[in-house]
Amino acid sequence: MHQALTYDHPNPVIMKNRNTEVPYMKNPEGIPYVIAHRGASGQLPDHSAASYATAYYDGAHFNEPDLQVTKDGVLVVMHDECMKSSTNIEDLTQFADRRTNATVSTNETYFECINDFLVNDFTWQELVESGLKLRSRYKERGEFYNSLFAPMRLEDAIDFMLDLNDRSPRENRKFKTGLYIETKSVGFYKQERNVDIAKLLYEVLEKYDLETVEKAAKKLPIFIQSFEQDSLLYFKTKTNLPTVQLMWDEQEYDLEWVTSYANGAGPKHTMLFNYDDEEYNLYKPSRLIEKCHELGMQVHPYTLQDDKLVYASNEIDEMIIWEAKGIDGVFTEFPRSTLSILKHSHSNRILLSGTDQCTLVEDSCT
Ligand code: G3P
Ligand code: CA
Repeated sequence: MHQALTYDHPNPVIMKNRNTEVPYMKNPEGIPYVIAHRGASGQLPDHSAASYATAYYDGAHFNEPDLQVTKDGVLVVMHDECMKSSTNIEDLTQFADRRTNATVSTNETYFECINDFLVNDFTWQELVESGLKLRSRYKERGEFYNSLFAPMRLEDAIDFMLDLNDRSPRENRKFKTGLYIETKSVGFYKQERNVDIAKLLYEVLEKYDLETVEKAAKKLPIFIQSFEQDSLLYFKTKTNLPTVQLMWDEQEYDLEWVTSYANGAGPKHTMLFNYDDEEYNLYKPSRLIEKCHELGMQVHPYTLQDDKLVYASNEIDEMIIWEAKGIDGVFTEFPRSTLSILKHSHSNRILLSGTDQCTLVEDSCT
């Protein structure tokens, strides 16, 4: 376990909003938010347009882009800093001499690229013209869709979501389907490549008129998430968009400090079971979540994978276990089943309470 993170910031954090000022901070439907992790990545290659469209039609409330940055400063939607495991880059022989090594290991983030191809060593044009295609990170999820879809820039993902919301609006939803955007390897890009990924993200949001919560709430709800405080602090002094501090289980977090710059916490799921040496149990509310709620933070743990269960033998029980912990949202790679289970458990609660029959079957009370 590393020691608690604090941050030596030259200026005091100016929290430009609290949760009450973010209209979409909590899902008005009474169920946790379904955040499609890299899109519907359980079925389609991570971060492909097809994966985002599937998540949209599956009913996810958000798609989740991870951001990397190219040599010419273009934000690319990709999880890893290097491309061997999620693309066909090794098949592109013209790039054979671009193999390199890079490792980053800090309290906040970790990656290891060995004999691999760093996104930041390529221009966006090079990646597009080379015929780079995305592939699933797990062989067992099938290879049929590999090599069909090109990577997207953040701008492509925003255009795509605006278009989906426009063409196939969800009449029964208060808010449009949004983007829950992660700044990756902030320190690496800043120190090693002289690029401020948070600033680039802010500029893209500004270009799309999405840089404030008032604008985003109407057009495309946005959350900003990161493992690294630096980019969250940047956003909190710059805008009132909601921020989420991602947490990994190797690290100790000072929650009072986190609540000074973040609207929410995104812990690894294991932290719902072992915060502060709590006694391991499956169904009691999580102490971490209770503490975050006391401090006014929402909690969105990661990542539910129906094909890689951790706590139960089927995806329904797995989701119910996570839900019983008191979550406000969940990163999932199978948004359709996650949403169905959450809706079912919500209607069960209504049914058992016997109070609100109209909410249970909307059309039956007209
Ligand atoms: O952003 C939530 C979750 O995705 C964090 O882990 O490594 O999958 O980006 P990672
Ligand atoms: Ca992520």
